[in-house]
Amino acid sequence: EGVDQRVSTGALPGWERVDELVQEAFDRHRADDSGAVADYIPILGAADPALFGLAVVDVTGGVHDVGDATHLFSIQSISKMFVYALAIQEHGHERVREIVGVNNTGLAFNSVMALELNAGHPMNPMVNAGAIATTALMPGATPAEKWERIREGLSAFAGRSLAMDGEVYRSEMLTNQRNQALGRLLASYGRLEGDSDDIVDVYTRQCALNVTAHDLAVMGATLADGGVNPVTGERVVSADVCRDTLAVVAASGLYERSGEWLFEIGIPAKSGVAGGIVAVAPGKGAAGAFSPRLDRAGNSVRSQLAIGHLSRALGLNLF
Ligand code: DON
Repeated sequence: EGVDQRVSTGALPGWERVDELVQEAFDRHRADDSGAVADYIPILGAADPALFGLAVVDVTGGVHDVGDATHLFSIQSISKMFVYALAIQEHGHERVREIVGVNNTGLAFNSVMALELNAGHPMNPMVNAGAIATTALMPGATPAEKWERIREGLSAFAGRSLAMDGEVYRSEMLTNQRNQALGRLLASYGRLEGDSDDIVDVYTRQCALNVTAHDLAVMGATLADGGVNPVTGERVVSADVCRDTLAVVAASGLYERSGEWLFEIGIPAKSGVAGGIVAVAPGKGAAGAFSPRLDRAGNSVRSQLAIGHLSRALGLNLF
């Protein structure tokens, strides 16, 4: 049911001024220098905080880029939503819901306490524990096979072959004791199949995949388009998988600030600690943004501002 239908084709009504509005959203928030670049992964601390890119891709394949929209940065936590989509495509709605969950923890993305408070259940796929549990669900007999499935799957969402940033991967591997602890805690509760350090290694690789704001917009637009990449025309996941994924992103994509974002902006969005955010307007398109300075929850400040501006200007609020 609905599995093969594409949401929309043809130019989008009301989007005639989209180029101008993308430029306006960018210009309006360019000078904002609040927040701080993440440095708990040492290499991320070296990012140039002046970088700022914004991109919109609509479900007809129309592309609107401004600023540093083609600058490469590591996808980090934004990988979680796309790996989640691939895991549901593989295992189905019920199984993934049972194992990973769909409710917000109300706690930070790397909280150990959230696991302890919930009998080791990760609660949702957007926090690190839930993302590690989701990565474990990816098909593949070895960690290398799981990793390749993830890289290929995310590349299909982006419409180009994505590559890992080796320096980011190595930097995080030297400092990711907390994620290893989360993996082992999941395993101790019997909630992780396979070797937890191997799974955390694959998770760390997926976070180190390099993308641009433009890539994020294409990836998001694929979910907006019912699972068909509007630029390449390739079906990546089913329409049902898109609905499941976007519901969970709406509830937890910006961690403990997800409710506030939904209340003010009204579309599902997912952040990464390198400064990327993708926001998806189902049936319409998606915005990708990049700016390294983050708020205290780990969400890019200018990316939130620019996407919020666009959501209002284009009337994207779902509610
Ligand atoms: O596992 C981590 O901590 C990072 N690889 C990803 C965290 C992240 O992006 C949180 N987001 N805003």
